[in-house]
Formats: sequence, structure tokens, C-alpha cells
Amino acid sequence: MRIGILISGRGSNMIAIVEAIQSGLIPDSEVEVVISDKTSAEGLIKAKERGIETLVITRKGHTREEHDAEIIIELKNRDVELVCLAGYMRLLSSEFIRAFPYRIINIHPSLLPSFKGLDAQRQAIEYGVKVSGCTVHFVDEDLDHGTIVAQETVEVFDNDTTETLSARILEHEHALYVQVLTRIVKRNFEIVGRKVILK
Ligand code: GRF
Repeated sequence: MRIGILISGRGSNMIAIVEAIQSGLIPDSEVEVVISDKTSAEGLIKAKERGIETLVITRKGHTREEHDAEIIIELKNRDVELVCLAGYMRLLSSEFIRAFPYRIINIHPSLLPSFKGLDAQRQAIEYGVKVSGCTVHFVDEDLDHGTIVAQETVEVFDNDTTETLSARILEHEHALYVQVLTRIVKRNFEIVGRKVILK
């Protein structure tokens, strides 16, 4: 499976995926390119260090559609079959979704549909939930709404801060993203309505 990864920042999920592929944990796959919409994304350096091609495609006054079109061209030029969002901080246009139907996945640091959008871990703490977690889902046109592929729970402790909870969830994110990808690259799943059935 030819994979493209989109990032905007730190890139720790991206690195978890790259390392799982390079070590053979995720089979028969290659990360063709890592694309960031931010020049300053720390993940760019980490990807380069691991021998991955990187591109920066900033929005620079373009519309969402124009920006996405530039990214789609680069992904298609490299025959990317699966797009992984890993801390990519932009909503995708319908053109992007249509270019990769059921071929874009994202990880979100909450148990969706709770706590969509930014600062999901802070939202969870402020709401007072006792359990949160992370979700891998296919991406559709609505924010954090696409069909859920897998979820993992993480306990929320009374003395948790946004930072401590985020760090604990992040460890689970890395493991869950890799685990899901091992199934997706083998096409070991079926979609039935809003359900994704992993085999
Ligand atoms: C992660 O918490 C991910 O769930 C969210 O953004 C964060 C990105 O972290 N979408 P990283 O860039 O992968 O380290």
C-alpha cells in the first residue's frame, strides 16, 4: 500500500507509522511522502531523518479547494492509495474526499462522537468524564464525523491535567494507529453502513 501522510506539527503519529512500516510491523507498505501545510512543522525534520520525502504546501491565500488540489496532485503523482492524517489541522474539501473515497483516515484524541474538534483532551477534563481515549476513523466532509474504524479507552484520573491526559492518550494513539493500519493495508475490513468491520 502506497501511503501519504499529512501533518501540521509534531508528527509523533506520523513517526509511529513510519517506524512500524520500516520495521515490517505494517506489511507491504511504503510512506511515499509526508506533506505539511506548515513550514515550521517539527515532524518534517523527523520524517527526513528517516529517509522520507517531505513537501510543504502552505495555504498561502488560496481557497481550501485550491490548496487541496495542490496536495491531491502531489499524492496522485506518487500513486498514493491511502492518506493518513496525523495531526493535520485542516478540514478537507469534498474534492479531496472524493479523490480518495474511504482512503483517508484520521486519529482523534477522544472517544468520538464526544469532544470533536480542537483541544479534545481539555474538553474531556472540563466535562468531567472518567474515561476518554482515541478514535481512528475514515474522514468525510464533516469534522471528526466519518465512520469509526477503531477506538481505545483511556482512564481519566481526578488529578489529570490536559498535559498528563494528552500524553497518556498519545501513547495509545500510536499503538492504535499502527494496529489499524496493519488491517487496512491488508484490506481486512468491510464497511456496512456506518459500521467498519475489521476482520
Ligand atoms: C494527536 O493528538 C492527534 O490525535 C491529533 O493531533 C495530535 C497530533 O499529534 N489529531 P502528533 O503531531 O501526531 O504528535
